[in-house]
Order: sequence, then C-alpha cells, then structure tokens
Amino acid sequence: MRFPKSLFGCCAAVAIGSVLLLAQNAQPKKSLDVPYVPTTPEAVDAMLKLAEVKNTDVVYDLGCGDGRIVIAAAKTYGAHGVGIDIDPQRIAEANANAKRAGVEKIVRFEENDLFKADFKEATVVTLFLLSSVNQRLKPKLLAELKPGTRVVSNTFDMGSDWKPEKEFTVPNTDDDTFLSHHLYLWTVPGR
Ligand SMILES: C[S@@+](CC[C@H](N)C(=O)[O-])C[C@H]1O[C@@H](n2cnc3c(N)ncnc32)[C@H](O)[C@@H]1O
Repeated sequence: MRFPKSLFGCCAAVAIGSVLLLAQNAQPKKSLDVPYVPTTPEAVDAMLKLAEVKNTDVVYDLGCGDGRIVIAAAKTYGAHGVGIDIDPQRIAEANANAKRAGVEKIVRFEENDLFKADFKEATVVTLFLLSSVNQRLKPKLLAELKPGTRVVSNTFDMGSDWKPEKEFTVPNTDDDTFLSHHLYLWTVPGR
C-alpha cells in the first residue's frame, strides 16, 4: 500500500509540533543564569569570522538558545558544532532548526547546565551571557579548554584580568539595544 505524500507531511508536522509543545511545557532544571535573547544574524556572521571558523573546527555555544550560532557555523563553514542550553524549549527549537537547515548530522544539542557540561573537545567557544557569568565561567574555560581554543563573546567581556586580544564592532546591526554590537576574542593560553 502506498502512503500518500500529503499524509506523510501532515504526520511529520504533527510530530514536530507535539515535540515543541511538550518542550514548551518542560521547565529548566534550575533557574536561568541569563535570559534568552538571540544574537542578531549580523553578529552571528561576525562572531564566526572573528573566530576564523573552518571546517576542521568544533564550535561549542554555551547557552545556545535556538542553535543559530552552531547551525550557521555548520552551514557556512562545514564546522561540527555542539550547543548547550539548560532550557528544554530552546533545545527542542535548536534540534528542529538544525533539521530545517540540513545540518543535523554535524551538530548536536545538549540540555545541560553550562557550568557542568564537558566542552573539552571545543576548538571554538561562543558566548552570549553576561560579564558576571563569563567571569564565573572563566576558571573552567582556562582549566578545561585546549591551549589555542578561540573564545568569542557577544557584548560581554571577561573582566580586567583576561584582556581580549581582538575586539570588533558589528556594522549595520538592526538591533537597537546595546546588545550584539560589540564582540570580543580571546585565545586560551598554554598551561
Ligand atoms: C542571551 S541567550 C544566547 C542564546 C544564543 N547563544 C545566541 O547567541 O543566540 C542565553 C542562553 O543561555 C541559556 N542559559 C542560561 N543559563 C544557563 C545555564 N546555566 N546553562 C546553560 N544554558 C543557560 C538561556 O536559556 C539562553 O538560551
């Protein structure tokens, strides 16, 4: 018996819709350290350029939201990527977005607390958190990431004792807040 294409499409849409609905009702296991605000598309491009992402990179976005940074790294540069977010709704959106973008084989999304996650394999780490959260995360970044790993942060620096090696101001951003305008780059030093 042949399965009509329209019926198949309908079932797939219902399945994706149900997963997103279930995720909407699921709550994060602890309160968010940073609220969800997505990076603008212009800043996503600029962050990946600032980190000089290549197809040999493994890009981790800590607090990945809807997955846009790792999905763009995979789509534009062929990089592998992992997104970590504590909010199950964001993880469900990120998985659906990766499928839509056709990169689900080279990216994955993990529901986890970024302070507990294992991100040692990263060669590039992207952040859009807060200065206070970056500073709490800094000891883990410096202890666990391989020397040479590039770290890029949207808007927020790491405090005065880890100065960025490059900064970049995003031109023509359509975000009229102070967010997604200024980017920072660090490289993890040798131990
Ligand atoms: C400002 S948004 C950035 C989203 C995405 N990185 C982007 O640039 O579009 C911060 C994200 O961090 C997540 N988050 C907050 N606290 C977290 C924690 N302790 N562990 C993992 N993710 C967290 C939030 O759910 C939210 O999606």
